Amino acid sequence: MGRKFFVGGNWKCNGTVEEVKKIVSMLNEAEVPSEDIVEVVVSPPFVFLPLVKSLLRPDFLVAAQNCWVRKGGAFTGEISAEMLVNLGIPWVIIGHSERRSLLNETNEFVGDKVAYALSRGLKVIACVGETLEQRESGSTMDVVAAQTKAIADKVSSWDNIVLAYEPVWAIGTGKVATPAQAQEVHFELRKWLEANVSPAVAASTRIIYGGSVNGANCKELAKQLDIDGFLVGGASLKPEFVDIIKSAT
Ligand code: G3P
Repeated sequence: MGRKFFVGGNWKCNGTVEEVKKIVSMLNEAEVPSEDIVEVVVSPPFVFLPLVKSLLRPDFLVAAQNCWVRKGGAFTGEISAEMLVNLGIPWVIIGHSERRSLLNETNEFVGDKVAYALSRGLKVIACVGETLEQRESGSTMDVVAAQTKAIADKVSSWDNIVLAYEPVWAIGTGKVATPAQAQEVHFELRKWLEANVSPAVAASTRIIYGGSVNGANCKELAKQLDIDGFLVGGASLKPEFVDIIKSAT
């Protein structure tokens, strides 16, 4: 299928200048598979984007953790897609479950954000995922399909989208989805793309898993046919992030 493995590191709201420099130094010294095998994107908080971009090895890329839904202006506290482009930041994470839950970002708002970021030339890691309650009620696929549809309704191309399935109940909990659980949802998401967008998009779009991925569980997850990589939180701040990158081979 030829989908290049993708490993994203979501640093979330963490770090000091000293800590960021240590993480980047660790990454710069790491021996990892070549960029034609794995695409690595690290996502520091906004305030560290220029610093990380200036220090990071050239074969790793940088992502913002969010961006505003339209052109900049009187939107206090927001960061515009144009600003990220101006800084030379190529990627942005949109629709993370922490923003959906803590900041009430709706499916439609996420879809609009994805479309606007793409229109400005950014590449997007678009996040979907169900809560434990939704999973236990059997509505996982209804939820992630609705989240994906809200994106599909607003975009005309999936060329610059990586879809991240992040079950909320696995994020930050240490309770990683089993390879079978993750593969099942990834397979269903790919089927959804095939039926509702196109077979070509379904075949080419990378669907990555996030939620308590670490150096110990990444290999088994990476073996799954429809898992094309990871979006890593806590472990992306640690040396084991390198092991997760190496799970591409
Ligand atoms: O975006 C990735 C994040 O939500 C996963 O967090 O700490 O469970 O790897 P973590």
